[in-house]
Amino acid sequence: MATTQSPVDLEKLVSLCKRRGFVFQSSEIYGGLASTWDYGPLGVELKRNIKDAWWRTFVLARDDMVGLDAAILMHPDVWRASGHVEGFSDPLVECKACHQRWREDQLEERKCPACGGELTEARQFNLMFKTFVGPVEEDAAVAYLRPETAQGIFVNFNNVLTSTRRKLPFGVAQIGKAFRNEITTGNFIFRTREFEIMEIEFFVKPGDDEEWHGRWRDECLRWYTDLGVDEGRLRVRAHEPDELAHYAKATYDIEYDFPWGWGEIQGIANRTDYDLQAHSSASGESLAYFDDETKERIVPYVIEPSAGVDRALMTFLTDAYVEEEAPTASGGTERRVVLKLHPDLAPVKVAVLPLSRNERLVPLAREVFEKVRSSGAIRGMVQYDDSQSIGRRYRRQDETGTPLCVTVDFDSLDDNAVTIRERDSMAQVRVPIAALVGELSGRLTA
Ligand code: GAP
Repeated sequence: MATTQSPVDLEKLVSLCKRRGFVFQSSEIYGGLASTWDYGPLGVELKRNIKDAWWRTFVLARDDMVGLDAAILMHPDVWRASGHVEGFSDPLVECKACHQRWREDQLEERKCPACGGELTEARQFNLMFKTFVGPVEEDAAVAYLRPETAQGIFVNFNNVLTSTRRKLPFGVAQIGKAFRNEITTGNFIFRTREFEIMEIEFFVKPGDDEEWHGRWRDECLRWYTDLGVDEGRLRVRAHEPDELAHYAKATYDIEYDFPWGWGEIQGIANRTDYDLQAHSSASGESLAYFDDETKERIVPYVIEPSAGVDRALMTFLTDAYVEEEAPTASGGTERRVVLKLHPDLAPVKVAVLPLSRNERLVPLAREVFEKVRSSGAIRGMVQYDDSQSIGRRYRRQDETGTPLCVTVDFDSLDDNAVTIRERDSMAQVRVPIAALVGELSGRLTA
């Protein structure tokens, strides 16, 4: 098969996402809200699968991790102590002619990229969204939508420590929404103002931090490649000193080669003891750890792997997108689009398809579908589809990344067997219905 590997054209990806129900523009019937996106029926499955895969790898499969789900709204003093009120800002410039706004640090030249006009002096623009708690809009009622989930972990450090009796090193993981009033957004779901992050704050003894920083860099990178992302399209880049966030001693970015170039999909920062120290002195509550060996109280250092869910989704989709010439039943070829997603991520794991809507085939196909769906052995969605020709249904399932199709045909009525068709190779194998569930789950986890 002649195959066109990614990178896929961004427009093609956006169009597939809309056509097949992965991602829709938010508030579309009102003309949309810039850079805001909704996940459709397949997008929500893909997103859940990404988060589940991450949680399984970094929480459930490890002895040194626990989870947390902190509130989005936090006491405003959290953001003063963390340095976000003062320092979480980007340099904003405005074009004096067309009034478009830009991030000065992202401009190659000091003129408006849209019209070439003169730009204003830069001013620091804080990226946190402000809101008010309660019915009165006054300074005392200001609250912020969190720009990272990390602070929920830091302020719960003592709660986690005392409730779980953890010893260093240990980590706390959290997945949740974050909000940033980005000056410039774009590239589909890559840079938006509302997004989701999967974060770990991993607490270590001071002095062990650099070794753990390297270990987390490698483990995070492996997570993407284990889920099928092409190693050649991933790279790790260390931050230059002038790029470092206000809390970081050193940071690695994992970047993916997107259609528009390299883009950060995950950061792994060495946050030192910056946050625990800051909250200890601002709150008056000591966030220290008693070291049984040295009988000393120490403030742990923190390694923070922080990955965007939406950027991970964009990476998996971009990397999985393939166009190829495929043989047809009549002996010719046709172009097919395939999402070669890892089975753990695929929104639909198995599709059960009767060859046609024939009244003898449909009841058996429905019976097979129910058997597979209710078995509990397939971790994820099983779909039944009997609309349009079998060829078109295969193409549709290929385009949404379904790893396995099960076809019920007229022979099935006599031999109690069905055909499993594999997405990537298009190979077909006949299996008895009695052995179907085991065959499917074996192939999905192989
Ligand atoms: N707590 C650390 C932290 O927030 P970050 O590098 O600013 O670090 C972490 O963000 C990850 O969140 C990024 O690597 C990226 O994947 C994702 N992310 C950040 N800003 C985003 C945005 N505006 N839209 C979508 N994802 C974003």
